[in-house]
Amino acid sequence: MDRAGQYEDLRAEIESVVAGETYIPARYASAACLLSEAFSPRFFWTGFYVVDPLKRSELVVGPYQGTLGCLRIPFGKGVCGACAESQESLIVPDVHVFPGHIACDSRTNSEIVVPVFDAAGGLAAVLDVDSEQLDAFDEIDRSGLEAICGILLTA
Ligand code: SME
Repeated sequence: MDRAGQYEDLRAEIESVVAGETYIPARYASAACLLSEAFSPRFFWTGFYVVDPLKRSELVVGPYQGTLGCLRIPFGKGVCGACAESQESLIVPDVHVFPGHIACDSRTNSEIVVPVFDAAGGLAAVLDVDSEQLDAFDEIDRSGLEAICGILLTA
C-alpha cells in the first residue's frame, strides 16, 4: 500500500479507537502509539506538545513515543513554538539550519509539526514528529497528519 493509503487507514483506525473518549490525553497517547508503530523507524520521536491551560503562551509536553523530550516550549521558539504561533504545519528538512531549533535529542535531523485544534477551533496542541533522516517528510506526510489531527479531538 502507498503512504497516502496507509495514512487513510490510520486515520480511520485512530478515529475508531478514540471515538467518544472524554479523557483527552488518552486520545493523544493512542495517536502517538499508532503513528509511531506504523512509521518506525522513520518516525524517531512522535508526540504532542499541548497548550498549557495555565500559561497559554507555552507548550508543555504531552503523550509521546521516543526518547526524552524537553518539557516546555514557549510559543515562537523552535519548530513546535513556530507552529503554535502560526497555527500552520511546518516541514523542516534540516533542523540544524532552522533558527532557534530546540535540540531535545541530537539524533533528530528533520521534523514535521502539525497543529491540533479543539472542537471550537482553538489551538489545543501540536503534533511533533522527528526523524533521524534528513528531509524525511513531504506533502503526503503533511496531508496525512493534518487529516489525523483534524479528527483527533472531535471523533
Ligand atoms: N524539535 C522540537 C523540540 C521538541 S523535540 O525535539 C521532542 C522543536 O524544535 O520544536
